Amino acid sequence: MIRTIVRLCLVAFLAIPFFSAAPAAKPGASLVRITGERRIGFNEDWRFHRGTAEGAEAPGFDDSQWVALRLPHDWAIEGPFDSKLNPHTGALPIFGTGWYRKSFRLPETAKDRRFTIVFDGAMSNATVWINGHELGNRPYGYSSFPFDLTPNLHYGDEANLLAVRLTPEDHSSRWYPGAGIYRNVWLDVTGPSHVAEWGTYITTPEVSDEKAAVSVKTEVQNQMENEAGIVLWSSVLDESGKLVSKISSEVTQISPGATRTIPQTLAIPKPQRWDMEHPYLYTLVSEVLDGNRVVDKYSSPFGVRTIAFDKEKGFLLNGKVHKLHGVCLHHDLGALGAAVNRRATERQLQIMKAGGVNAIRTSHNPPSPELLEFCDRLGLVVMDESFDMWRIPKVPNGYSKYFDQWSERDLRDMVRRDRNHPSIIMWSIGNEIPEQKSADGWKEAKRLTDFFHEEDPTRPTTSAFNNWDDAIRNHLADNVDLPGFNYKPMRYEQIMKEHPNWIIYGSETASCVSSRGTYHLPLEKYQKHPSHEISSYDIISPQWAYCPDVEFTYQDRFPNVLGEFVWTGFDYIGEPTPYFDWRGSDASDWPARSSYFGMVDLAGFPKDRYFLYQSQWTTQPMVHILPHWNWEGREGQNIPVMAYTNADEVELFVNGKSLGKKKRFSEPVDIQVGANVSEDKRFSTKYRLLWQVPYQAGTLKAIAYSGGKQVVEQEIKTAGVPAKVELVPDRKVIHADGDDLSFVTVRIEDKDGNLCPVADNLVHFDVTGAGEIAAVDNGSASRR
Ligand code: GAL
Repeated sequence: MIRTIVRLCLVAFLAIPFFSAAPAAKPGASLVRITGERRIGFNEDWRFHRGTAEGAEAPGFDDSQWVALRLPHDWAIEGPFDSKLNPHTGALPIFGTGWYRKSFRLPETAKDRRFTIVFDGAMSNATVWINGHELGNRPYGYSSFPFDLTPNLHYGDEANLLAVRLTPEDHSSRWYPGAGIYRNVWLDVTGPSHVAEWGTYITTPEVSDEKAAVSVKTEVQNQMENEAGIVLWSSVLDESGKLVSKISSEVTQISPGATRTIPQTLAIPKPQRWDMEHPYLYTLVSEVLDGNRVVDKYSSPFGVRTIAFDKEKGFLLNGKVHKLHGVCLHHDLGALGAAVNRRATERQLQIMKAGGVNAIRTSHNPPSPELLEFCDRLGLVVMDESFDMWRIPKVPNGYSKYFDQWSERDLRDMVRRDRNHPSIIMWSIGNEIPEQKSADGWKEAKRLTDFFHEEDPTRPTTSAFNNWDDAIRNHLADNVDLPGFNYKPMRYEQIMKEHPNWIIYGSETASCVSSRGTYHLPLEKYQKHPSHEISSYDIISPQWAYCPDVEFTYQDRFPNVLGEFVWTGFDYIGEPTPYFDWRGSDASDWPARSSYFGMVDLAGFPKDRYFLYQSQWTTQPMVHILPHWNWEGREGQNIPVMAYTNADEVELFVNGKSLGKKKRFSEPVDIQVGANVSEDKRFSTKYRLLWQVPYQAGTLKAIAYSGGKQVVEQEIKTAGVPAKVELVPDRKVIHADGDDLSFVTVRIEDKDGNLCPVADNLVHFDVTGAGEIAAVDNGSASRR
């Protein structure tokens, strides 16, 4: 039984991984079972030590006192939060040295196999050894990287020892990166001739209702000591696993150590398209045969779809126009930290999709493979981003230190790993790169764009420019296919006029800030609220930013602008703007330590803003009213009540009495904005409805109508004092695999079952039985 205590402001989630009844085996040299599967999970039975450990790469080193754990693992999320640490990275210890060791044995019978260890990502500055032999290092924590273990392996009784040292640095990131082997580790087992890592490249150069031509380039690597002759069979399977198309090629004389690229073309009759509504996936199975023996079998999911970017129409998927309703996402998973978790990733994306999101920007780094897998499955398109900086640093120990040596390798590996995902529609060469201000910044933009084009000529490159005029003047914008502009909707018209051939979009938009369930009156724009909570009336933003309505206005005015990527979909750890200064000028900013930018909070609960986007981006009738209706002490005073809806009109009722109907788009609401949006700091939005309602306890109800008919309603009630705790799991049955999660919402209710919106109770969590509490979170950026 595990006991965790959190301070709860309203509701919280509880994540429970159910472990199988058998406890995890004690770390030791467990035997790897070679089952015929190409890929074996290598997350179990690691030992971890935080701190330096002289000689820990040597097989004989004694790690018996180290912590036993399974990966993925993020040591920084264990905390503690510390006001002396960096606000950018969430006041968590993301730096230091961490060692991981794993011993394993291989059967004698596996001597003819090749073994490649694949790290989906390790944060950061990884150095890897097998049996004391250094395999290499990889500085960038977001890159996936393989190493061939084979030449240094033992078989039979003698154990193998894999050791990894990480040395992430302080001041290396502008957000919380996590620390540790935070993504999955795999052992790939192949024959001596095999498909190279990320060695298939699948495109669909011709797509019609009748037929899709599938072009496949397969890299086959010969790791034998003599010349290889092989047969490559490539088969396309449909979603049910049925064979759709098959082709073979005989390849002779692949020299020892060489890699040969084998082109093949297959046809899919009457193909099912991958699109946003029906994201259909095929699988290419590549089999390498030596004589009659299959020595390698490699699977690559892919989709059949066309993408196009048109100056007049915008983005087209399979010929159909889709405005990009995108969000930027950082990679952490709230209280779970940066450690990858399939269910938590899927849940994030499902919540986004339900809000009308159709595009994800992986700000500002290559994502986990799981994120792309779920985008493929859910029909979300992706802007896959490489870097947050090039040679000129944004933080002292950031990627700039490694850019010259590693940028080409990191970028090519990123494309090779990711290019078969149908979800990816563009590659980003970087976010808000300081080289925008350099006269020769274009050279670097061109170099990176060229690498992307070489590795994948089917997708455009982009970059997110914040210094819009510098990026244009210094020709960075000329050296990407689709220039993206951050926070400059007011400039779209001018840019398009001056560059009539460009296709542009809002690569980062809004940056509105709010705390779920918090409402400050009167309605006014302020910089910081002393409570560390920011009003959820969706009007507060830093000086470079603006509320969602501003972007809506310009997106609607220019339908050919591709769309936008909102900063951000979810809150993330670190960057607690505007409470940023707790180590500098304003100590009272502490303890804010995670972002306020999300339309959804850290725990996964939508803020009001989520519904504002939903009202613009979805058609399934919805209405959402704010604020809550617990305003004791303000009886008779006007409370601004806003409604976000996609219906034609909304009628508001207080205790059954109608306050009249208001039509969408017809009664603009005046709100305060920053000088960046308008000189007089006023903005008139037609995307919300507003009533001034004299407060009286009871029921506030909104009924929405379309075409004169009632389509949906929402009712909120004044709650009494907290009387009970209700637990609501998102899934009642989960896999006992050690990874799966149930997210349990904790509702504080009054005696009649009404949610208490301002409850602030301390909640104690216990779990009995096979499950464990993975994490608890109240979603607040500042309250534990
Ligand atoms: C942008 C930046 C993001 C984030 C955001 C906050 O300029 O690209 O990473 O810092 O500002 O508004």
